[in-house]
Amino acid sequence: MNDGILEKYLESGKLAAAILKESAQEIRVGRSYLELVESVEARVRNEGAALAFPLNVSLNEDAAHDTASTGDERVFAKGDVVKFDLGVQIDGYIADTATTVDLGNNALLLEASHEALEAAIRAVRPGVTAGELGAIVQNEIERRGYRPIANLTGHGLDQYVLHKDPTIPNIAINDGTVLEEGMAFAIEPFATTGSGRVGEKTRVEIYSQIAEKPVRIPSARAVMEQIRDRQGLPFSRRWLGDKKMDLALLGLARSQIVHGYPVLADIPGSLVSQHEHTLIVTADGCIVTTR
Ligand code: CO
Repeated sequence: MNDGILEKYLESGKLAAAILKESAQEIRVGRSYLELVESVEARVRNEGAALAFPLNVSLNEDAAHDTASTGDERVFAKGDVVKFDLGVQIDGYIADTATTVDLGNNALLLEASHEALEAAIRAVRPGVTAGELGAIVQNEIERRGYRPIANLTGHGLDQYVLHKDPTIPNIAINDGTVLEEGMAFAIEPFATTGSGRVGEKTRVEIYSQIAEKPVRIPSARAVMEQIRDRQGLPFSRRWLGDKKMDLALLGLARSQIVHGYPVLADIPGSLVSQHEHTLIVTADGCIVTTR
């Protein structure tokens, strides 16, 4: 990795860390979900950076991929476990970081994903396998009495690429990718009181373009125009603004030009916590960009 690229990872990381910390402190019982999401996203743009994906705010058994819809009337409630996953990019170099805010009585659940992340980060160096990191994550979560979510993983990052090798599991697996100096990736342990697996809900708010195909319908063309500058990175249905765009978006999904990401949830009534950092492997360890 050359110095110019490292510089951009560090810059987006520093900004993401500051905004995540500030925003997490602003979650209160009774505050509007939509207003919070929009104010955080505006903060990223006002700093001259761009979002790597819509701000994910996922409640309770929802682990990931929820964000505000237009006119979303939800408010944060007493007892909520609020996952807050922020992606910032500068020229496509991504900082992906998450934390959990507890509006109930779930300190140990939050500690489980937090300590799993910190222990995994301490183990990162060239030659270590992704499977070894998964074992560390699993152990930290299970010894506190919770389950890691087995079908969610950390992921490698590249310019305008949110998911590539290495995949960092949240459970022990044999082997996995061998870490090398210069790799950029996110580690994101999820701890749950539920089954340890997520499934898809019907709610879909986040999409990304997955193919380049000619589009004739004017409203669909208008959507394509709006999402062009995402360069394949995820966007929110809310960002399209107009209700007419919803139908166009569904058409584009049917044509497999865009892909929708349903909300991912563990079993009803369960609670999920998440912590995430982005890091770059160095000769003898790693640099965490999102501290
Ligand atoms: Co991530």
